[in-house]
Amino acid sequence: MRIAIAGLGTVAGGLLALLRESAQNLAVRADCRLELIAVASRTRRDVDLGGAEFTHDVLSLAGRDDVDVIVELMGGEGLALELVERALTAGKSVVTANKAILATHGDRLFALAERHNVALGIEASVAGGIPIIAALTRSLVANSIDRVTGIINGTCNYILSAMSDQGAKFEDALARAQSLGYAEADPRFDVGGVDAAHKLAILTALAFGVPFNKAAVYAEGITAVTPDDITYARELGYCIKQLGISRRTAKGIEMRVHPALIPLDSMLASVSGVMNAVQINDQATGALLFYGPGAGGRATASSVLSDLVSFARGDSVIRRRQSGSAVPLLPIEAVESAAYLRIPVIDQPGVFARIATILSEHGISIEGAIQRERAIADHKVPIVVVTQPVPETAMNKAVAALQALPAVVGTVRRIRVEHAGG
Ligand code: HSE
Repeated sequence: MRIAIAGLGTVAGGLLALLRESAQNLAVRADCRLELIAVASRTRRDVDLGGAEFTHDVLSLAGRDDVDVIVELMGGEGLALELVERALTAGKSVVTANKAILATHGDRLFALAERHNVALGIEASVAGGIPIIAALTRSLVANSIDRVTGIINGTCNYILSAMSDQGAKFEDALARAQSLGYAEADPRFDVGGVDAAHKLAILTALAFGVPFNKAAVYAEGITAVTPDDITYARELGYCIKQLGISRRTAKGIEMRVHPALIPLDSMLASVSGVMNAVQINDQATGALLFYGPGAGGRATASSVLSDLVSFARGDSVIRRRQSGSAVPLLPIEAVESAAYLRIPVIDQPGVFARIATILSEHGISIEGAIQRERAIADHKVPIVVVTQPVPETAMNKAVAALQALPAVVGTVRRIRVEHAGG
């Protein structure tokens, strides 16, 4: 099988190394030799291409008659999307790690592959080395999935773990994640929730048979999470994780990325550092946890190679799950969840009672609370409350009413609380 690679970044480096190291083993598994013909990149790096031809002209790969499969590892949307479209149209199978193009154009690209009778492999697009695409499209194809809950951005998980376990500052932890090679070229994609939203759109499409629709994912980043939030959460029996959640409800499918308090004894609470994990709740198995490296050259190249070997063996076509009837993707306003509220107040009699009254007026029941005995400064104290699940709209109104109280002397901070059942 003759291969061309577009892109020469971290994942391409891992792929080149594994192709070199495992050539013989791969030939046995694939029942044919995987031959690297050409590598294209806008910038040349000092990497051993094993004798393959190099070109700066990325799009030229799609027109080569001596190439069967194109591996797109460039990232970004413009040129990468054009290459993938041209390659599929030219009758070449494609393996891509590009979550951004799949999250928005996935339906069109799979249709294009089908029309031209070629394969589109996307295992590397979500959670690096974790075989979650194969799990959703093959291993769990018969199961009715209720919920996907993922720690699918290693940079965020690294930052929150470092803040929680070592008391690290946000900026220092981010710099360290960048130096480890996990962060996106623009780290705002990581800490702002965009990277996780791309991945969640892909997981949701495959888990629930809905369209790839990144625009419908509600995304909130981790930049407002403070060390105090982490400390109070722990006192209440929770840790804070950045989650991607898609959930089937009676009304449709929720898709959301945001920081969340999760119980300290839940499976996902034990996932720390740059590791990723995806928990699937379905009606047959209960809960499954897929855990492993969500980024990194060799780990992600493992997923690329699995697609290549599958192509060579002829068991390559991803069959999308059919949902039976059109299932709506729900806006965040339709979500119901519990919340952690940190409310900075003036330390004076009756304030807690006033807060409890406002919550009860909005139909919100309190599950737990912390009130410090002494003011931390200027007679200000934080009151921290964890509520029972309530509709998003009721919580928004309650937060606005709390914010308007004269005794509230700073921004009311709200973080959703999730019980993923595992
Ligand atoms: N920037 C991503 C992360 C890695 O931090 O998880 C690639 O998806």
